[in-house]
Amino acid sequence: MARQAKIVCENVWKVFGANPERTLRDLDRSLSRAEVLEQTGHVIAVKDVSFKVQEGETFVVMGLSGSGKSTLVRCISRLIDPTDGSVIISGEDITKLSHNKLTDLRRHKMSMVFQHFGLFPHRKVIDNVAYGLEIRGEARASRHEKAMQVIELVGLGGWDSHYPRELSGGMQQRVGLARAMAVDPEIMLFDEPFSALDPLIRREMQDELLRIQAQVQKTMVFITHDFLEAIKMGDHIAIMKDGAISQIGTPEELVANPADDYVRKFTEDVPRYKVLSAGKVMRKPENQLSNGTTVKTARTAIAKMDGKTAFITNSKGIFEGAVRASDLKRTTAATAKVSSCVDAQILAVSASTKLEDLINAAAHHDAPLAVVDDNNKLVGEIDRAIIMEAMTSS
Ligand SMILES: Nc1ncnc2c1ncn2[C@@H]1O[C@H](COP(=O)(O)OP(=O)(O)O)[C@@H](O)[C@H]1O
Ligand SMILES: [Mg+2]
Repeated sequence: MARQAKIVCENVWKVFGANPERTLRDLDRSLSRAEVLEQTGHVIAVKDVSFKVQEGETFVVMGLSGSGKSTLVRCISRLIDPTDGSVIISGEDITKLSHNKLTDLRRHKMSMVFQHFGLFPHRKVIDNVAYGLEIRGEARASRHEKAMQVIELVGLGGWDSHYPRELSGGMQQRVGLARAMAVDPEIMLFDEPFSALDPLIRREMQDELLRIQAQVQKTMVFITHDFLEAIKMGDHIAIMKDGAISQIGTPEELVANPADDYVRKFTEDVPRYKVLSAGKVMRKPENQLSNGTTVKTARTAIAKMDGKTAFITNSKGIFEGAVRASDLKRTTAATAKVSSCVDAQILAVSASTKLEDLINAAAHHDAPLAVVDDNNKLVGEIDRAIIMEAMTSS
């Protein structure tokens, strides 16, 4: 059975103006957003948007300014009500929730990180971070204990008694992040959290969030207008234009097959190594030997391989290392098992690793890289040349 998605948006619309429902009911859907505005005075901020976000994934919504991203994410948190459509969280349609249940949802299930941090200037870092726990009615000692943990997690250890104004922009956003995490929400919503930061700090915060996400595995919806940020952060990306979604896909899918010119324009300048993963460029392992093979047999086999590297696997296909002709020469006993000569230093990389993260490995490695799946099973190999080639093409 397919896993139930954590967040499902079904045909969500948001119309701003004096009479949104009627405007939507009578809407001529062939009209552009600008034409609707001109004829009715209403803004179609979100137009028939549908998507699913699986538990634990980071779903990015990317689009130019005014494309409806903030409005969409506010519909998900129900800071505003969609004019039409459903937002289903863990199987429950939240557009139908009572006021009390909605408050409960916001306090316990989701939290939000904004571009302009939104910190309380007169509260110390720790009391900013503990805010969500405070309004839930948690006792001071317990909320401070939890706050201190997330302050450490976001790299702000030692800053708990400072005031926001004493912190740099990047550090203030770490407080924003800590505050959102303190309530241990199931869902985290980010509305351009790093857009106000300098490029270097921004990159640092992206890496930080990726590191934290690998640890906590929350369901995240991350808004950005920056395509490079989108492909770095997102498991899936929805590209928005004029309130509607142009395309949804993995970073690789978008770059490989942009659905229209709008999407293509974003992908044009993206270097291939930033989106391609090891699994996409690997080939079947050419030379594979079982760990039970004798050194004698392995010598013959490797001689036929033109002196190349052979990957050694056990009977279940689990990667154990690699053997080169030179490794075998050193061993005298021809009846010994090849597993005794394995060079365990040979790098095995995960199929999901981006080529960008393999450049260093490839530069310091004179053999093909082994590619393994989550169970460490050998699934492919990559020549260094492929990685170097991807670096120089775009
Ligand atoms: N409260 C509002 N009233 C009227 N129009 C709005 C309101 N909020 C947003 N809009 C309009 O909706 C469109 C989408 O805005 P927004 O969701 O903020 O886009 P983004 O976050 O992608 O920049 C814009 O044209 C904006 O002017
Ligand atoms: Mg916005």
